[in-house]
Amino acid sequence: MVPIGVLASGRGSNLEAVLDAVDNHYLTKCEVKIVFSNRPNAPALEIARKHHVETVTLDDKGVPKKNWDYDQNTVAALQSCGVAPKTGLIVLAGYLRILSEQFVDLYPRRIINVHPALLPSFPGLEAQKQALDHGVKVTGCTVHFVDREVDHGPIILQTPVAIRDDDTVETLSSRILREEHRILPEALRLLTEDQLKVDGRRVLFKN
Ligand code: GRF
Repeated sequence: MVPIGVLASGRGSNLEAVLDAVDNHYLTKCEVKIVFSNRPNAPALEIARKHHVETVTLDDKGVPKKNWDYDQNTVAALQSCGVAPKTGLIVLAGYLRILSEQFVDLYPRRIINVHPALLPSFPGLEAQKQALDHGVKVTGCTVHFVDREVDHGPIILQTPVAIRDDDTVETLSSRILREEHRILPEALRLLTEDQLKVDGRRVLFKN
């Protein structure tokens, strides 16, 4: 079983999609061992508790945005729950902190993130608004490995979502979110079933 740690700051709907996928036996080779949050009141924590998953919170108010001193505590919590660098996987599911380079380097190709746009377009915050403002006709979502740059690592899965003339940030976000909830568990399934290899920037099927 691959031990998984989820880092979340907000609503937690992607966390819930992963936990549901485990409960429904879509994901059979992994177990969510810990949900960590930098926001003590994150609704994601309630979702974790409902699923009887260990939670750890460490308020990051006032902490600089990329900070190894802070991240060391996160790593300690992950490790104490069995999410070790070589064997564990970390999922950023709406985690509103940029990881320090030391954190990323400790878990090479073992941290994944879900982003609500077709990277490399519209990285960073408010990706859905960026897409609408730019006037693109298609956006979507991406699950990718995390490297030292924000929203940048090798891409595991992407799905397009067409933009409608009457879309608002809310309507577009909700259609993208539905796809996020599908491709995040799918990416975890491919990874935990050891079906993927990374060749430079390309993530390929092993066979
Ligand atoms: C999602 O849109 C995700 O792509 C982005 O943050 C949002 C988190 O939503 N990184 P939730 O907390 O999983 O509901």
